[in-house]
Amino acid sequence: MSSNAPIGVYDSGFGGLSVWRELRRMLPRESLIYLGDGKNCPYGGRPRAEIEGFAMSAVERLVNEGVKMVVVGCNTATTAAVESLRERWSDMPIVGLEPAVKPACLTTQSRKIAVLATAHSLSSDMFLATAARYAEDVEVVKVVGEGFVELVERDMEHSAEAEHLVRKAVEPLLDKGIDKIVLGCTHYPFLRPLIERVVEGRGIDVIDSGEAVARRVAWLIDRYDIAADRDNTPTMRYITFADEAYRKRLELKAQKIVDEDKER
Ligand code: DGL
Repeated sequence: MSSNAPIGVYDSGFGGLSVWRELRRMLPRESLIYLGDGKNCPYGGRPRAEIEGFAMSAVERLVNEGVKMVVVGCNTATTAAVESLRERWSDMPIVGLEPAVKPACLTTQSRKIAVLATAHSLSSDMFLATAARYAEDVEVVKVVGEGFVELVERDMEHSAEAEHLVRKAVEPLLDKGIDKIVLGCTHYPFLRPLIERVVEGRGIDVIDSGEAVARRVAWLIDRYDIAADRDNTPTMRYITFADEAYRKRLELKAQKIVDEDKER
């Protein structure tokens, strides 16, 4: 049984488009609906219950749009809500996002990694449990990407301000013997070129979860037997809890990603 229904991808704002990009690359026949909340972004400094409420409303909206599956393209919303979401929509696959701590711990040579994420994600039970499980003998330096989400929301990731904030967060890590930096927030991959420039020549890999999540989605649509037909012409839609101007900006950002991918 196949299904041409769309896959819903949700984030507090623009960040989940970094996951949307990997889904598009890996599953080119699947239709996608992207919901960027926009009204309540950033989530990172908010209490868990509030984020959980936003995530519930978001998934409800996507379900009303007829999605066959939801990808919570937001680490913060995943840590706050994924269990409640799975409880409420128990017959639909729901994929959450976690910072790529496991692959970083499995491959670090120096036994020292850094995780860049929101304050909420870094203090969540989920993060602490993953770190305890995989980072037993690895030192994990936690860093909040102060201002990073706001930069991406304002399309400022190539600005002097972005360079300043990225240097402020990343430069102190350079002499700590770290060989992996995990981007544990889906907004941060938009700042990857800058982050890579700051760590250049220091033997540090920058890792995010986008591709691994797309692989997991591919595996799940197979397992649930809900892949789109071979001749499906995929549609791309963008919705928001903010206004039409924000929705248009989401669409433009997605189009920019498509154009960049064409040039690759
Ligand atoms: N993109 C989100 C994440 O992956 C959260 C950004 C925010 O709203 O603070 O954590």
